[in-house]
Amino acid sequence: MENFLLVTDLDNTLIGDDTALIRLNEILEKKRRKYDTKIVYCTGRSLQLYHQLNREKPLLSPDALISSVGTEIYFHPIQDNFDLLWANQVSENWDRDAVFAVASHFSDLVLQPLSEQTPFKVSYYLSETIAQEVIPRLKADLARENLQTQVIYSASYALDILPFNGGKGAALKYLRNKWNIPADKTCVCGDSGNDIALFKGEERAIIVGNAKSELLQWYYHHQTPFCYLAKQHFAQGILEGLNYFGFLQHL
Ligand code: GLC
Ligand code: MG
Repeated sequence: MENFLLVTDLDNTLIGDDTALIRLNEILEKKRRKYDTKIVYCTGRSLQLYHQLNREKPLLSPDALISSVGTEIYFHPIQDNFDLLWANQVSENWDRDAVFAVASHFSDLVLQPLSEQTPFKVSYYLSETIAQEVIPRLKADLARENLQTQVIYSASYALDILPFNGGKGAALKYLRNKWNIPADKTCVCGDSGNDIALFKGEERAIIVGNAKSELLQWYYHHQTPFCYLAKQHFAQGILEGLNYFGFLQHL
C-alpha cells in the first residue's frame, strides 16, 4: 500500500525496544519521503510527559499527537495549543469538578501526579487486586449523578475518567474525517486497555505481542478480520503487523 495513516500508542507499543524502534523509524521515514504517509502518536500521556519521552527516545516528528487518552489533539509542529474544535466536542456534557467530587469518595483511588490531571481527564492509580470490585461501584456512582463518562482501566494500574465524547477511538475518527482517510488505509497499534477504543472500527489493527491482559481478553472475545495479534513485541510487533496487512509494499 502506498499511502496510509499510522496511529500508534507509545508506551509498550512503539516504545520498548530501541533497536526495533530505530528500524521502524527508518522504514516510516522512507515511506513519508515517497508518499503522503501520515504518522500519529496516540498516548495516555499528557503533552508534558510526551515532551519528556521525546527527549529520551528517538521519536519521529508526528503529523499529529493525540494525548491524554484521546482528549487532546495537537498538530505538527507539536506546540502548546490543542485543537479547539476537538476540545469543543470533548467538553460537551463534561463536568470535571463533579466527576472529581464523586471519585474523591473512593479511598482506593490514588490520584496521579498533577501533570496527568488535564482539562478533560481525571486519573488515578488503582491496584489490580481490587479493580474489579471498585470500578463497577465508581461507574454506578457517576451514573447516579447523571455524569456521562468513560471509565478506562489500563495496564493493571491506571484508571482514567474521560468525557463521554473523548477517548482514543473518537479522536482517531476525528482525524480520519479531517484528512479524509478510509479505514482500510489506516493502521492502529496498541498494547493496553486505553487502546481498546482504537480497535472497535474497521481500521487495520495491530496488537503487539507483549499486550496487557485486559487487551488480550478483549481481543479473545471480539476477534475480527481487521485485528492482528503480533507474535513479536513493541516496534518489532508493529513491523510484523504492517507487513501482515501489506502496508509496507512499494517501499
Ligand atoms: C499514561 C498517562 C496516565 C494514564 C495512563 C493510562 O501513563 O500518563 O495518566 O492513566 O497512561 O491511560
Ligand atoms: Mg501503551
